Amino acid sequence: MKQTIYRSQDGLEGGASAPAAEVPAELAAAAQAATDPKGAAPVGPTKISARDVSVFYGEKQALFDISLDIPDKTVTSLIGPSGCGKSTFLRTMNRMNDTIAGARVTGRIDMDGEDINARSLDPVLLRARVGMVFQKPNPFPKSIFENVAYGPRIHGLTRSKAELAEVVEESLRRAGLWEEVADRLHSPGTGLSGGQQQRLVIARAIAVNPEVILMDEPCSALDPIATAKIEELIDELRERYCIVIVTHSMAQAARVSQRTAFFHMGRLIETGDTEEIFTNPRERRTLDYITGRFG
Ligand SMILES: Nc1ncnc2c1ncn2[C@@H]1O[C@H](COP(=O)(O)OP(=O)(O)O)[C@@H](O)[C@H]1O
Ligand SMILES: [Mg+2]
Repeated sequence: MKQTIYRSQDGLEGGASAPAAEVPAELAAAAQAATDPKGAAPVGPTKISARDVSVFYGEKQALFDISLDIPDKTVTSLIGPSGCGKSTFLRTMNRMNDTIAGARVTGRIDMDGEDINARSLDPVLLRARVGMVFQKPNPFPKSIFENVAYGPRIHGLTRSKAELAEVVEESLRRAGLWEEVADRLHSPGTGLSGGQQQRLVIARAIAVNPEVILMDEPCSALDPIATAKIEELIDELRERYCIVIVTHSMAQAARVSQRTAFFHMGRLIETGDTEEIFTNPRERRTLDYITGRFG
């Protein structure tokens, strides 16, 4: 478990008061705490490997030749100023860009060595293996139970009602929500608080046995307490899943991730262990961004 060192929102906008070219101490400390206290390499083997990935929206190129390895059983955060292509890159990993008219992806993305853009691969099945959580929690207009049961049902993952109920309970437990909803499984998911809704959609993603969970600014719409709960959950989930999170909060990236990738204007500028990126970045642009000098 990690201690909470830096719980307020970024607080870096006022970074002008920080001494020039220095990473705030709280940020560095949080980044250190996010790495394995035993000192062992915290990252798993490569789960997703992107090579020379470019994305175009019509004529406009949004990503330029991104090559990045994403390790398993690790949280990787994608950071960078608004519009730099974080969400676009996240969407390449479960082929969500396929659903955007005029979007075109080039390059190669392998998951466990398999080309996810291969024609033979069904994107619907891919999206069960690579789940996605968005900024605004988006439960279906159905009961809590049905939100979680939906995926296992359409993918035919359970053989009986009892088994389905078990999967629903297990998924809600893993998402840290069971205790709060066990007595109202049949009330609408949309009646939950924002933080609970976000844990509900995480449970919905977990219910179909994903390997990867993509999260696009999952705490941006949440208050600090709900945010802390989601961060704790992310830390627990990384034992089983490959997690990639987009965040505009430097403090959050430092707290929850072991690997960080910094994007700027559609390019991957720098990637490495979070501790390294936040204490001793190689690139000037990375330092300027994490210390709040632009973005
Ligand atoms: N559906 C879309 N159609 C056209 N342009 C888009 C679309 N989505 C994103 N873009 C453009 O691609 C660039 C990267 O956007 P995005 O991936 O959303 O960045 P970020 O998530 O880092 O804020 C931006 O210039 C944005 O305007
Ligand atoms: Mg985005």
